[in-house]
Amino acid sequence: MPGPTLLHRLLALLTPAIVVLAATAPVDSDAQHAAAAAPPDPEAQRVAPYAATPEHVVTEMLKLARVGPADFVVDLGSGDGRLVIAAVKEFGARGGFGVDIDPKLVAFANAKAAEDRVADRVQFFARDLFATDVSAATVVTVYLFPGAMARLRDKLRAELAPGSRVVSHDFAFPDWSPERITIIPAPEKRDAVGRSEAVLFLYTVPERRERAPR
Ligand SMILES: C[S@@+](CC[C@H](N)C(=O)[O-])C[C@H]1O[C@@H](n2cnc3c(N)ncnc32)[C@H](O)[C@@H]1O
Repeated sequence: MPGPTLLHRLLALLTPAIVVLAATAPVDSDAQHAAAAAPPDPEAQRVAPYAATPEHVVTEMLKLARVGPADFVVDLGSGDGRLVIAAVKEFGARGGFGVDIDPKLVAFANAKAAEDRVADRVQFFARDLFATDVSAATVVTVYLFPGAMARLRDKLRAELAPGSRVVSHDFAFPDWSPERITIIPAPEKRDAVGRSEAVLFLYTVPERRERAPR
């Protein structure tokens, strides 16, 4: 076999430099724009899977929050919409909205609101709950995983007016003392989440001067 030509030797010498240059070369600007414009991946934003609150627990959550005609109720991670729809239909709340990361659940919830003739007061949006302005709410309900609760506590305490109520199903906000804790039987939950009761935590947003330090 003939020995390496001058060109081969030159290539062998330059190859490591070419590899380093390729790795550090600026990315094509079209590709950068495409990446920046790509919509966020909903699955990456998800902070809890879907599990519906049983209907009688929904009623207890809204009772605990003392929902009435003056209230605007927001459910963060609204699933099939049952909390906000019940707030308006059963408790006479003046309105509300829900947000969910799953557009199919949002479509279902809006269809249910229309079927129940409350679509003029209740709407559902496909949106990350952390990108949602909740300042219009007087009552917020949540049924989310513990990993989301510290960040959510800070958001709620920053955005909600003093006296607004927050009810959380099963998971407490860290370093925020609940005003009341209620435990009720909920055998329907056993198959889905492995527990057969619901623990409900009620919080009231303090006056602004009391919010920091906690
Ligand atoms: C345990 S389910 C509760 C559903 C409903 N609130 C109820 O109590 O029946 C949690 C919901 O939060 C939604 N979710 C999870 N992460 C979210 C996020 N980052 N933004 C909005 N919704 C989210 C899920 O799609 C799911 O429907």
